[in-house]
Amino acid sequence: MKPEAEERLKGLHAILGRAVNSSPASNRRPSAADVDLSVKIGTLHFRNPILAASGTFGYGIEFAHLADFGKLGGFVTKGLSREPIAGAPAPRLCETPSGMLNAVGLQNVGVRAFVEQKLPVLRKFDVPVVANVFGYCQEEYVDVIRMLEDADGLAAYELNISCPNVKRGGLQFGSDAAMAAEVTRAARTAAGKRPLWVKLSPLVADIGLMARVVEGEGADALTIANTYPAMAVDHRTRRSRLGNPSGGLSGPAIKPITLKLVWEAWKSVKIPIIGLGGIETASDVLDYLTVGATCVQVGTASFSDPKVSERLSDELRTACFESNLFNISELRGKFSAEIG
Ligand SMILES: Cc1cc2nc3c(=O)[nH]c(=O)nc-3n(C[C@H](O)[C@H](O)[C@H](O)COP(=O)(O)O)c2cc1C
Repeated sequence: MKPEAEERLKGLHAILGRAVNSSPASNRRPSAADVDLSVKIGTLHFRNPILAASGTFGYGIEFAHLADFGKLGGFVTKGLSREPIAGAPAPRLCETPSGMLNAVGLQNVGVRAFVEQKLPVLRKFDVPVVANVFGYCQEEYVDVIRMLEDADGLAAYELNISCPNVKRGGLQFGSDAAMAAEVTRAARTAAGKRPLWVKLSPLVADIGLMARVVEGEGADALTIANTYPAMAVDHRTRRSRLGNPSGGLSGPAIKPITLKLVWEAWKSVKIPIIGLGGIETASDVLDYLTVGATCVQVGTASFSDPKVSERLSDELRTACFESNLFNISELRGKFSAEIG
């Protein structure tokens, strides 16, 4: 018997054993309720592996009446900068075949207003909140983290390095290994004891190298990946369909590309990976776990269904049960590259 099959059988026996001990009906069959969806990212525990992604779940507060936070693994806030940012001109979103293009321009209230107005509300909910952080130079990243360090109620930081470094000619932090290393090192020092996740840009020649570099500078986890630079034009008006000339592509169109990035990174590092890009179904979630992700985030799908993340956690339980998978972590990295 293959070791995986043996493990599965052991899990099944454990469940049956528990049922015999705890229930007078000694012949209770295992059910979807017996599936353990909980995951760990470093020292953090999540009730399930589904988090809402940055920029698609506001500051969380906007979704409090729409989604059951008790069913979410957690969520990541909109990107936070040192100063408030007004953002890009409308239209900011545009549909494309199998995907969505956005140019929000990183609009946000600024870290100070987040700490004073949003965080006190978020503390009332029983859900891990991850703060997404960005800047246009290294000092800005550090300043944002320092301001958040004085506040309670955050589980971790997620560093968005898909940002132009204005002091280095506008090249993205996340496209240059030396700049990615520097900003991660500085953020790691500023972050004190809180876990630091680094969200990688998909715009790299070698994601494995970038993942190793960032891991080497003390990142506790990697989020893979951000949107893909793209554009949509109207040939009649000869203009962009967005307020900006170009934007970032997300949604189902990017899933196969990002899945490969996660797999490449998984082979290169030991720290946990959070996979995201185009997730809409429980199968999509399981695909990401198979290639090495420990948990996932859901972005664009929340636009058509604000309850998608909680629905997915229910569907995931059923999908795992149907695959005889009683501990979701057992699937992580089980992809076989053997041909045939
Ligand atoms: C409207 C919109 C705003 C976003 N804003 C942010 C952001 O502020 N910070 C960030 O790191 N990623 C941001 N993202 C990227 C998403 O978090 C995610 O990486 C990407 O959309 C891919 O996932 P998806 O296909 O499930 O949407 C944004 C995406 C969208 C669609």
